[in-house]
Amino acid sequence: MRTVAANCNVYASDNIKADLAELLEKYTSKQVFLLTDEGSQKYCLKLIEGISQITPEHTLVIRQGDDFKNAEAAISIWEFLSANGATRKSVLINLGGGMPCDLGGFCASTFKRGIDFINIPTTILAQVDASLGGKTGMNLGGLKNEIGVFSIAKAVLVSGEFIRTLDKENLLSGYAEMLKHALIRDAQSLNELMTIDFNNPDYDKLSRLICDSIAVKNYFVTEDPKEQSVRKALNFGHTFGHAFETFSMRHNDHPILHGKAVAFGMVCELMLSEKKCGLNHDDAKRIYEYINSQYGKMEFAESDFAELLELMTHDKKNDGNGINFTLLPTIGEISINNIGTKEEISQVLDSYLKMNA
Ligand code: GLY
Repeated sequence: MRTVAANCNVYASDNIKADLAELLEKYTSKQVFLLTDEGSQKYCLKLIEGISQITPEHTLVIRQGDDFKNAEAAISIWEFLSANGATRKSVLINLGGGMPCDLGGFCASTFKRGIDFINIPTTILAQVDASLGGKTGMNLGGLKNEIGVFSIAKAVLVSGEFIRTLDKENLLSGYAEMLKHALIRDAQSLNELMTIDFNNPDYDKLSRLICDSIAVKNYFVTEDPKEQSVRKALNFGHTFGHAFETFSMRHNDHPILHGKAVAFGMVCELMLSEKKCGLNHDDAKRIYEYINSQYGKMEFAESDFAELLELMTHDKKNDGNGINFTLLPTIGEISINNIGTKEEISQVLDSYLKMNA
């Protein structure tokens, strides 16, 4: 087990079962609880089966998907812990993508005023972003992460074994957050990121790049744990991205995944960076072309601009003064707290629609 990000307690593991067993040595089987969702139960649970402290009686499987990251599921987790005698000395292991890590982290942090939790993220998205940095929570009334607390996991175990279970769509979704980390902090790694072929992924290289990406997130979380300033850089691509994600949920039977929405959002926010911060067009164009070739393009029409603007107006990253953006004057350099006017945003949406790269 190797430390990847000390302040976020992230460790890279080549043998997830042995490393988790070692971490659990100080807990008895009465104290250990495991939360997972249906998909992770099917594909990932077997990788940690056989550890003596993890028992079927103390394992709770919840439904899969962000729609179930709600109060009902949170209550079921608290009730499960309570009914099975969890104490302040207990630990909750959250196995899965961002959803079980967020919700499990929140339930652990509030149960009896807080018990330990260990995240075992099984998607790239959760490995480089959701499982680390202390943001835990649940959705309320259709608003994402409306309720939650900052609480750092006791440990986050990142293993390349899990990413081999992911389909191309999920690989690409997590990869968007890796591209984001390179864009905001690490321009050098961007070129290397753009060489991964998702039709035939080099998993060893991917695992190394995942660790580099975690280090970027660790940097921002360490500098600004409660998102008062530079941590806002991690929201790059997410103002347009969240609007695209919600728009897709409203209008499609199979909505686009979070990372794909962020990829489209990053294209738009690079366009806004060109307009407002002087980002070099050729640098930006290279990234538009790469994202378009890997992710395709977001589908919407001019008649949807008003709805997308409305969604951005309600984004919780705004502080009441307008629609807030993190922008990039150059690749690897951030500018936070930029206010985009409705006119500027409409112009970007228009340019996005006309872009044929
Ligand atoms: N996902 C962005 C952050 O943790 O701040």
